[in-house]
Amino acid sequence: MLSTELAGVKLKSPTVLASGILGVTGASLAAVAKAGAGAVTSKSISLQGRKGHPTPVIATYSQGMVNAVGLSNAGVDETLAEIEFAVKNAGAPVIASIFASTITEFGKVAGAVSQANPDIIEVNISCPNVEDEFGRPFACDPGIAAVVTKKVKKSTNIPIFVKLSPNVPNIAPIAKAVQNEGADGITAVNTVGPGMVINIEAAAPVLTNKVGGVSGPAIKPIAVKCVYEAYKATGLPIIGTGGVTTGRDAVEMIMAGASAAGIGTGVYYRGPEIFSKVSEEIQEFMDKEGYKSIDEMRGVAHEER
Ligand SMILES: Cc1cc2nc3c(=O)[nH]c(=O)nc-3n(C[C@H](O)[C@H](O)[C@H](O)COP(=O)(O)O)c2cc1C
Repeated sequence: MLSTELAGVKLKSPTVLASGILGVTGASLAAVAKAGAGAVTSKSISLQGRKGHPTPVIATYSQGMVNAVGLSNAGVDETLAEIEFAVKNAGAPVIASIFASTITEFGKVAGAVSQANPDIIEVNISCPNVEDEFGRPFACDPGIAAVVTKKVKKSTNIPIFVKLSPNVPNIAPIAKAVQNEGADGITAVNTVGPGMVINIEAAAPVLTNKVGGVSGPAIKPIAVKCVYEAYKATGLPIIGTGGVTTGRDAVEMIMAGASAAGIGTGVYYRGPEIFSKVSEEIQEFMDKEGYKSIDEMRGVAHEER
């Protein structure tokens, strides 16, 4: 049985489309849900529209990719109809991802996006391209992460998942800080880095922005460790994200403590069918090893053997 739950929201399969991949329109979100994702996350939405960085914004390398999309989006007012479309047509829970550069704006965008009635709001405080007034991503300081969480929680009745960064020495105090302010769950993690890919023939970085967030198979051990630490510190539901490409990768996330596995870069490798394929592969593993449910497998790597 592949069903799972994220803060009371029921998913038929423990796979979630990660934010930023095929999540700009309501139609693409619904299409990914129809392809088998247990839930789908929108591209991060801000109060006002943003242009993002000049192309090229994606550079691939042997073990993943580096991106500096720069959080381009049309702004919350323009995007509401897309989220509403997805909520009506996806047939699976819809997660609206939001971000902002000030605490007040986080509250406003959370309130505004709630009108579209998504099942969960994901609070992206961890994009390496967006910094607080001190020049750090919000997710790098437990105090600031807590204040954002408190603000968003006050601005909506929809369950909130705070998306954390792997770029910290210890994720546990940050996870604990957002839990203390009422986070209903955690998404772990956003991209690693930033990193750089150089085109050696051109003798120059591939990205116009020069640096970008690193994703894909290479970051999986970092992501699994972050999920393990966040689960140990909080016990909250977690969407374990970072490098998941196969069912076995998803099982690792679940054994570390995730309730579902987020998939972003993997969609570039295996197409939207990755969600149904990963679900089948998880089921095969469970049948072979005698696990009856996702819940039974969740966090087992924490048990002493
Ligand atoms: C092209 C691209 C765009 C992304 N855009 C967003 C975004 O808008 N908001 C966000 O929270 N994460 C964004 N991410 C991060 C992913 O949601 C995910 O956390 C990260 O890529 C690690 O997972 P993966 O290895 O499965 O891709 C983006 C990632 C990529 C590759």
